Amino acid sequence: MKKLRSGSAERMLRIGIPSKGRLSEVVADLLHDAGLSFRRISRSLFARCRDVPVEIVFLRTDDIPILTAEGAIDLGITGADLVAEGRVDLIERLSLGVGGCRLALCVPDDAEITSPENLQGRRVATSFPKITQDWLAQHGVEVHLVELSGSVEIMVSLGVADAVVDLVETGSTLAANRLRVLEEIGCYETVLVQNKSVADADMADRIVRRLQGVVIARTWTLLEYNVPRDRLAEAEDITPGFNSPTVSALEENSWCSVRAMVRRNETHKIMERLESIGASAIIETDISNCRL
Ligand code: PRP
Repeated sequence: MKKLRSGSAERMLRIGIPSKGRLSEVVADLLHDAGLSFRRISRSLFARCRDVPVEIVFLRTDDIPILTAEGAIDLGITGADLVAEGRVDLIERLSLGVGGCRLALCVPDDAEITSPENLQGRRVATSFPKITQDWLAQHGVEVHLVELSGSVEIMVSLGVADAVVDLVETGSTLAANRLRVLEEIGCYETVLVQNKSVADADMADRIVRRLQGVVIARTWTLLEYNVPRDRLAEAEDITPGFNSPTVSALEENSWCSVRAMVRRNETHKIMERLESIGASAIIETDISNCRL
C-alpha cells in the first residue's frame, strides 16, 4: 500500500490528538506541561505549537492509529484499545498514565450466564469486533457479532444482543444499564504511537522524552525525611527510590537524611510506615517535570 510520505521531510512534525471528548482536554494538558502549547481556533483541524516546530492535527480517536501508520501524522495520541483493535503497523512509544479503562464482556445483571461458553451461538454487540472475535475464539466460543460504533451499552435492552463487549471506566454506564462484568478482556490506557519511518526521528524522540518527563513527574513525588541511622536499612526498604535513595549525613551522627522518589498514589501509606520506624520531618515535594 502506498504510504503518504511525499513531502514529509519538508513539513513540520505532526502530532494527531483527539478532536473532542474527555480525552482531548487531558491530552492538551499533557502537551502543555511538556512545553507543547497551542491554541485551537474554533473548530480548526490544525494548530501550531508556540515554541517548537510541531503541528497539532485534531482527529477522531479511532482514526489516529491508521493515520499514524499511513504517515499522515508522525505521532499520535489515542487509546491503546483502539491501537489494539486497529491492527496497523506502528510503534507504540509511551504509555501516558491517563485514560485507564478495561474492555469487558458484560451481561445483564439477572442473566443466568456464568461463563463465556454460555454465550455460544448467541448475539454479542461491540465496537471492538477484532479483539472480541479473537478473545471468544480463544475460549472456543462462536457468536453472532453485532458491530457498532457507539452506544453499545443499550443493545441488550434494545433486544439487539444477549451480551456486550464494552469499555468500563467507573462502571456507572454498566450500572445504569443493569449490566455486570462477566470477564475482563483487557486493560488499556492512552498511548503515544509513532509512524515506523518518521522523517524527523530526532524531533520525535525529543517529544517522547518531554512527555516521558511529564508522565514520570505525575506518577512520582519526592519524599525527604530524617531517620535514626540504625533504622536506615528499613527506611531504604520502604523508599527504595526510582534508582536508589540519596542518603546524607546530619550533624547529629546517629541520624541521617534520606531523599527518595515514591509513587504518588502510595505517599500516605509510605509516610505512615516511615513514621512507624521513627522517621521525622517527612516532607513531600511535587515534581513538576523530570528527566531520568
Ligand atoms: C465509553 C464506553 C462506555 C463508557 C464507560 O463510552 O463505551 O459506554 O464510556 O465509562 P464508565 O464506566 O465510566 O461509565 P463513551 O462515553 O466514550 O461513548 P460511546 O458510547 O459512544 O463509546
